[in-house]
Parts: sequence; C-alpha cells; structure tokens
Amino acid sequence: MTEQIIQQAAQALRAGKLVAFPTETVYGLGADATNPEAVRQIFVAKKRPYDHPLIVHLANIHQVHDWALKVSEAAMLLADKFWPGPLTLVLAKQPHVLDIVTGGQASIALRIPRHLIAQQLLQAFGGGVAAPSANKFTHISPTTASAVQEELGDKVDMILDGGDCEVGLESTIIDMTSDHPCILRPGMITAESIAEVLGTTISIANHEKHTQRAPGMHHLHYAPTTATTVIPTEAILTLFATLTSETHRIALVTYTPFTMPLPKGIHLISMPRDAKHYAHDLYHTLRTLDHEGYAAIIVEAVPKEAEWEAIRDRLAKASTNKERLIP
Ligand code: TXA
Ligand code: MG
Repeated sequence: MTEQIIQQAAQALRAGKLVAFPTETVYGLGADATNPEAVRQIFVAKKRPYDHPLIVHLANIHQVHDWALKVSEAAMLLADKFWPGPLTLVLAKQPHVLDIVTGGQASIALRIPRHLIAQQLLQAFGGGVAAPSANKFTHISPTTASAVQEELGDKVDMILDGGDCEVGLESTIIDMTSDHPCILRPGMITAESIAEVLGTTISIANHEKHTQRAPGMHHLHYAPTTATTVIPTEAILTLFATLTSETHRIALVTYTPFTMPLPKGIHLISMPRDAKHYAHDLYHTLRTLDHEGYAAIIVEAVPKEAEWEAIRDRLAKASTNKERLIP
C-alpha cells in the first residue's frame, strides 16, 4: 500500500468519512472516534443497534490513557504481552469518550492491531479509530477486501485492501474493569494464555447472566443465511445413512478425513486439522458456501481443546436454528 493511499485514508477519517481497513483478525469499518456524526454513520451503514458499543483502535500503547482511566497493572501486563495483536481490553473510560462509541456504558473497549496497514493508517491518523467488523449487523465478519465490498460496498468511502486476514476470527475481548478479569468474547488468544501472563484464573462470561452489554451476544451473530448446523463426528455417518435416497444439496464442512463414498448431493469441504488454520479459513468458507445455494450447511463439531474455543463459539452462533438441519 503506498504512503499516498494511507495519507488519503487518514484524511478521509479526518473529514468524517468511513474507511474500511484490514486488521489481523477481520476487516474493520473505521471512523474518527471523536466525531459523533462519523461514528453514527457506522451504525447506519451496518444497520447496527446503537446499544452495541464499538472498539476504539489505537496505534500505540501511550494513547491508552487518552481513552481509559484507572488502567490496572494487570491490564498493562496484557497490553505489553499481546499488543499489537488480536486482544481487546475493556477498561473504565475517560469522561470525554462519546456515548455513541460506548453505548452509554462507563467502559471502553481498546485494541492495538498488528496488521501493517492498520498500523500505518492509525499512525497517519494519529487518533482513535472506532471500528466494528465491516459487515452488516448479524452477518459473518469479512476477512477479505472483496467480502467488505460485498457487505458494505456502497456505504464506505474507501476500502484498503490488505489481502486476507491472518487470524480470521474477531479479537478476544477481556473485561479488565474489575479485579476479576473476565473474557467477554473468546478469540485465538485463549483464556489459558491470558491466565499464564496474569498468574490468576480467568473467568469466561456467561452471557445469560453477565450485565455488560458485550460482544456478539445477539443470537444471530455471525450467521450465514443458509441454514447451518453443527453435528458431532459420529452423527455424520448416521446422516449419510438417512440421506441415501434423498437429493438434497448439502455442504458438509469437516476436518476429519472421510474415505467412504458420499451420498448424492453432499459436497464435502475439508478444513485444516489445526485450530489456527481452521480459524483462518472458517469465515471465508462459510461466506463462499452461503453463495452456492445449498439447502443446508452442516459443520462437524470441532475438538474440545482450549485452542478451539473461539471456533466453537462462532460455530455455535452460526448454527442457531437446529430444526432447519434438513429442509
Ligand atoms: O477483531 C476485532 O475485534 C474486530 C476488528 C475490526 O478489530 N472488531 C470487532 O468489532 O469485532 P465488533 O464491533 O464487530 O465487535 C466488538 C464487540 C461488540 O460486539 C461489543 O458488544 C463489544 O465488542 N464491546 C465494545 N465495547 C464494549 C464495552 N465497553 N464493554 C463490553 N463490550 C464491548
Ligand atoms: Mg462484528
């Protein structure tokens, strides 16, 4: 990306425009976090309810105190260890932070991304950039510039193309506003790796109970429009048996290699067998399948280990309507 394009994008942000940019997790839809009208345009473009707060993206750690109050030692430890990177810290906000950014809450979510283009843009702009994932509300987050174009093309003033996103799932969000850190949204930085840095146990929010208006709680978040269901590995064979005389066109997303012949109408998508590469491919795969007119997308349940936690979370959100397994 040329310096000229970065400067043009920073200028667009200063002028109150929306700029979509790559991060290592997913593409973000950015606006100047101090400009209420620009931030409002994010909600309009995404058709996102105003009570869903935004993450403010920063270029460097010194800017944290411009946005947050009472940043604990534990929060700074995490910032030192994981920033720039796919971690978002929820901290007490400075009084000047706009209500439209925080959804009227007393806290603010901050992240320093490590993608080179995000870094260049944030440095050139100099201030905080409010940026949700660059998709319509409830849709899957975009991991390529063309997915952003497809989601929000006519609503965005500029899209910076940084290729496909390295991580592929949204950042881990951790609430650091109390002495008991709590993960609000799992990501590829796991609770275990955070606990290791802090030397304490970390809780994971139970969203039924948790009072914070936190991430992706909406039951239709991250969902393809095609009926999508997650089933255990063993159930796949049963499914094959029940489908032999049927002619449904079904996409089956697995990571276990199946060697037996597939029933008619089943299209097999083999995913990587390790969590990192699976996460990288997941949204792109679901987005592609969603265009191909399948009657259903069936996804093999992923392993129970901690490194798969964020993937399990997103798959559970993608499959909300169990009755629609087979139309
Ligand atoms: O990886 C990511 O985090 C991407 C990239 C672009 O940085 N961003 C992203 O933003 O996923 P978004 O808006 O799609 O998801 C952010 C989530 C929201 O669902 C919101 O509920 C939560 O962060 N959030 C924001 N501010 C919060 C706060 N003060 N307290 C609790 N949750 C907050
Ligand atoms: Mg989002």
